[in-house]
Amino acid sequence: VTDSELRPAILDRLHAIPGWLEDEAALFTIHLIEAQRAAGLYGSMLEIGVYRGKYLSLLRLLLADERERIIGVELFPGGHAEFGIQEIMRNVLVAAGSTSNVTVLEADSRSLSSEELLGRLGSRAKFAHIDGGHTEDVVFRDLSIVSPIMMTGGIIAMDDAFSYAHPGVTEALFRFLDQERHVIAPFAYCFNKLFLTTVSHYDAYFAEAHRFVESPTAPKSLERVKERIAFNRSLDFAPKLFGYEILPIGW
Ligand SMILES: C[S@@+](CC[C@H](N)C(=O)[O-])C[C@H]1O[C@@H](n2cnc3c(N)ncnc32)[C@H](O)[C@@H]1O
Repeated sequence: VTDSELRPAILDRLHAIPGWLEDEAALFTIHLIEAQRAAGLYGSMLEIGVYRGKYLSLLRLLLADERERIIGVELFPGGHAEFGIQEIMRNVLVAAGSTSNVTVLEADSRSLSSEELLGRLGSRAKFAHIDGGHTEDVVFRDLSIVSPIMMTGGIIAMDDAFSYAHPGVTEALFRFLDQERHVIAPFAYCFNKLFLTTVSHYDAYFAEAHRFVESPTAPKSLERVKERIAFNRSLDFAPKLFGYEILPIGW
């Protein structure tokens, strides 16, 4: 994955799996997890809300070390969890070449505690994607059980953060960020996902988001982001959320 020439092939593999993931959000995720690797940050990864395994496959592609574990939590609302898990594992295998270190847990995230998640992960999380239930109560609870198990410098990607179709996600996120503003900081918004980290690492990841947008291999669709950054600077305007400037990458 480190080789940027491989990225189009990775996106193609992810396109083959049903689900919701914009290319830009996938590429930004790759950029951030590779930055964590470059900084020597190793840990587990977690997803709440797996569906058919699209984002989970991306996380498996980004596994940096055999000691890392990946857990996906999925409710399987239609039942048949056994078949659902088989399908997810097949998708991960085709996209990532291996399912080792990946476990899909059939559970309602509302029944899980931080302690149980941490026990299953084996180590604090360097990356978590929250994309399960989309109501205010579920999202607030998911954020509340995930944030205590993040490592310092860990990243939470919150899906549908500002989605007009899922206002409860925004409501929960804002309640959480208001409550945790001295612990958790948002640093970028990229194609439907808000990226958060521990306050200690806010500056580093905010700079990393700029590096992503300005890199020569950035998707063409990000040209306008650079223009907006320059325009905002010319107006002396900084988009802020709960006191933290965020880089709005798009959508
Ligand atoms: C938007 S989809 C996730 C998409 C997925 N991340 C992907 O990459 O395609 C939301 C998923 O969350 C699951 N879900 C909903 N409520 C849940 C809960 N309380 N606990 C666990 N999973 C839940 C749904 O069954 C559904 O598969």
